[in-house]
Amino acid sequence: MEAEEIEILVVCAADAIERGGAKAFSLSRIDAAGESRPFPIVIIRTHGNDYLGYINTCPHDGVWLNIGSGEFFAPDRAFLKCGRHGAIFEIDTGLCIEGPCKARSLQPIALAIVDGEVCLCGERLVEDDHPLNLFDDNDETMEIMIHPD
Ligand code: FES
Repeated sequence: MEAEEIEILVVCAADAIERGGAKAFSLSRIDAAGESRPFPIVIIRTHGNDYLGYINTCPHDGVWLNIGSGEFFAPDRAFLKCGRHGAIFEIDTGLCIEGPCKARSLQPIALAIVDGEVCLCGERLVEDDHPLNLFDDNDETMEIMIHPD
C-alpha cells in the first residue's frame, strides 16, 4: 500500500520571524465538506530557535490572540497572552494557565522547516492568485484586520 502524501505548503521564510517573535497569517482552508473557511494562524519562533504554530483563536471567546494591540506576548514575553481578556498561555504547549479559559488550550498546527522556510503540513489551503493571503509585514505589532464571520 502506498503511503499517503502529506501536503506541505510554504508559509514564510524562517528568517522572516525573529527569535522571540511571532507572526500572524490569515489563511483559508478547505473543510471536510469542501467549503473554504478562514484559517488564522500564528507562528512563534522561540529564543531557542524552535518554531511553533497555533490556530490564532482564543479558546475563550474565539478572537485573535493579538486583537487590539497586535501583541501576542505577555509583557515578560515568557507567555502568550490574549488581547481581549488577558488569558495567559504557555508558549510551548498552548495551555492556558491563567484567565477565563484556564486549562483549555490553543489548537496546535503541524509545522516543518524545509530549506529555510516555514511550512504547514497536512492542510488543504485555498490557493488563488494570492495563494496564502499573507500579512507580509515585518512588524509583529502590525494592525490586524478582523474578518466578519
Ligand atoms: S477572548 Fe481571549 S481571554 Fe477572552
